Amino acid sequence: MSQDAFKDQLAATAASVTYTLDALLSLPDGGEGRVVEAMRYAVLEGGKRLRPYLVIESAKVFGVESSRAVAAAAAIEMIHCYSLAHDDLPPMDDDDLRRGRPTVHMAFDEATAILAGDGLLTRAFAVLADPATHTDASIRSELSLVLANAAGSDGMVGGQMLDFLAQSESLNEAETERLQSLKTGCLLGAAAEFGAILGKASGQDRFAFQSFGLKLGAAFQIADDLLDLEASPQDAGKATGKDAAAGKATFISLYGADRARKQAWSLADQAIEILGKFGAEADGLRAAARFSVDRQS
Ligand code: IPE
Ligand code: IPE
Ligand code: MG
Ligand code: MG
Ligand code: MG
Repeated sequence: MSQDAFKDQLAATAASVTYTLDALLSLPDGGEGRVVEAMRYAVLEGGKRLRPYLVIESAKVFGVESSRAVAAAAAIEMIHCYSLAHDDLPPMDDDDLRRGRPTVHMAFDEATAILAGDGLLTRAFAVLADPATHTDASIRSELSLVLANAAGSDGMVGGQMLDFLAQSESLNEAETERLQSLKTGCLLGAAAEFGAILGKASGQDRFAFQSFGLKLGAAFQIADDLLDLEASPQDAGKATGKDAAAGKATFISLYGADRARKQAWSLADQAIEILGKFGAEADGLRAAARFSVDRQS
């Protein structure tokens, strides 16, 4: 699949995920509606929607129509957007710009941004537990378990803790790899595994899809670190040029940009190799692995 065809497909997926998120986050009447406004602000505008894309494309490989995967895809996007709202807060990365707009705490206030993140985290699991998401309770339970493990202290939250601690210590390559795998890889791994779970794939295929997402995630985070070094805030839609000054542990801080870029491409190739036994139905996923490195935002 060409990168242009991939981008068209990603845009179509993004539109249907945004539509679903909009429907899942209706505004209540009372004063508490403010937190839902902030949740909607955090999720509805912008964002590449790569995690939902992985859910939907992986599900397709196992014969599941995208309309039957989109609610689970929206749940992962809620977790991702919560992680961004909290990542941007002053005690963490202290960022004012996200997806080309003020961050949630700038548009609302810090308390509301914390609560909006809490609300999205919780809502994601309500979506996964809802029979409207899948009629089979065992699938709903598998999805919930995989996402809880990927998002929590054994996954994204644990990685964010390591990222925070790494600002005042120096990490070696294995430690940096582990940090990035937890903070970014786990959620992308869960996204690809979601498709396999929805398609009732074998344990072996589930593992392969999770491994694919993890490799893609490792490549994706190195590309994110390269964007911090090389992109303009206009192109990236977020502040850039901050990681080195903040003492972030990255492959760039270890080995420089050229070697980091090579490493990202090698990881994308490894991700694609994992899909070896699948045919053209996995081409969207292969294109996603290349896009994870070769992107401008
Ligand atoms: C940014 O993720 C945070 C990382 C894990 C690197 P994305 O680059 O997927 O952000 P959006 O969703 O497109 O805004
Ligand atoms: C954040 O990594 C990963 C998350 C789990 C939110 P970064 O802090 O590098 O992400 P950006 O650059 O702010 O999007
Ligand atoms: Mg961060
Ligand atoms: Mg950040
Ligand atoms: Mg970054």
